[in-house]
Amino acid sequence: MTIRMAVSATLSLTLASSLALAQKGDAAKGKEVFEQCAVCHSISGEKKMGPTLKGLYQKGKLANGQKVSDATVSAMINKGKGNMPAFAEVLSAEEKTDLLAFLKTI
Ligand code: HEC
Repeated sequence: MTIRMAVSATLSLTLASSLALAQKGDAAKGKEVFEQCAVCHSISGEKKMGPTLKGLYQKGKLANGQKVSDATVSAMINKGKGNMPAFAEVLSAEEKTDLLAFLKTI
């Protein structure tokens, strides 16, 4: 009984910490995901087909006037806009979380 409780406590701890990790995202992995965006978006300030994403999270607002946040950036990634394709079905939830973590570092 005691052992079983200890095991299940350990299991829920492991689960909780991996969930926390998943929510935080891994910027290094996100950088690899960003290769799919880099055709159209630079992180250097240069304009390609899309606007540069340099300093995205420091900018405050998106071109459409919405405040830059995980929610508005995710909506852009999921739905696309104009010449930007939708990535809702292309990227996994984990890849999107990693991508957001990376976008905060540029
Ligand atoms: C085929 C080219 C293309 C690809 C690939 C692409 N985008 Fe875009 N993106 C665009 C264009 C064009 C716009 C401007 C859309 C508009 O405002 O009409 C845009 C806009 C954005 C914006 C809003 C920028 C702002 O300041 O308003 C974000 C954020 C963004 N893209 C992120 C991404 C991410 C992340 C990826 C990779 C998953 C990606 N894009 C892939 C072309 C692309």
